[in-house]
Amino acid sequence: MTQPLAERYRERLPLTSETPIISLGEGSTPLLAAPRLSEALGSEVWLKWEGANPTGSFKDRGMTIALSKALEEGVEAVVCASTGNTAASAAAYAARAGLPALILQPAGAVALGKLAQARALGARVLEVRGSFDEAMTAARELAARGTHALVNSLNLYRIEGQKTAAFEIVEELGVPDVLTLPYGGGGNTRAYFKGFEEAGAGLPRLVLGESTSRATTVASAIRIADPVHAKEVEQALVRSNGSVVALDDDAIIDAWRLLAHEEVFCEPASAASVAAAMTLPQKSGHRVVCVITGHGLKDPESVTRLTPPPLQVDPDPDAIADAAR
Ligand code: F0G
Repeated sequence: MTQPLAERYRERLPLTSETPIISLGEGSTPLLAAPRLSEALGSEVWLKWEGANPTGSFKDRGMTIALSKALEEGVEAVVCASTGNTAASAAAYAARAGLPALILQPAGAVALGKLAQARALGARVLEVRGSFDEAMTAARELAARGTHALVNSLNLYRIEGQKTAAFEIVEELGVPDVLTLPYGGGGNTRAYFKGFEEAGAGLPRLVLGESTSRATTVASAIRIADPVHAKEVEQALVRSNGSVVALDDDAIIDAWRLLAHEEVFCEPASAASVAAAMTLPQKSGHRVVCVITGHGLKDPESVTRLTPPPLQVDPDPDAIADAAR
């Protein structure tokens, strides 16, 4: 059985003996060697494969702690605004905790797999006529009324849970020279920074991939105009001697294709970490960890759009051999 991260890192998390642990077996995700990417970048590249979490994204690390604390604190319902992954994770952990989840998502802008998850898991899904940022403002205002607890990453229990990914990397590999991440709202950057700081073995240089067209990018998970953690991200970049790389959609999609063909099948936004790594100067011997934040199955429409459809053939070996050429 996978040990829940709340148990694995209990003493470094804000848990008490009274906290009911709401777990779906999150954390302890693979750190995959990426031989072909390493070759391409002239560095030693590793992928922290967060698509292996129970709902297919890194959000589960934060949601286990957020829902455990919500239950401990007697919360009656939770709310989040989401581009899809927070929604799927909140829906799953709220269901496990026996709490209703209200999901606010930008209408028409969430990938199919994520929508399916939130609906199947019984969350109340509302499509907001507006952007993610507007849905986020509405979620904050609703939470301020006291009827719902906010489980976006402004809820600092989320950051606490997500910081454990840094602990795992340090335990398995030590502190890498560079850690690359997609930059949406910045909660995950903040969490990794906190995790490396608490691990006490030094900081990697944080290199963030953000979209040049934040409000409209094809990478729908990071279609966020206004990062809510911008100030903390700025501080983390100063402290780690890090940087933000602006990526157009082509750069993100090229990295997505490269990853899918050679290493791992992720959703487009997740490839922003690899796209950012590809802008690093070639430096053999550097150890780079790219965080791959979400599973490719989340976003089947992107696959349909970006890859050729399969050919149809008759069940005849000659026809198949012909078509397979
Ligand atoms: N990668 C994926 C797959 C995401 O879903 C997100 C954020 C990010 C990266 C960016 O992380 O916001 O911590 O900088 N998704 C949020 C959501 C916005 O609602 O699921 P960040």
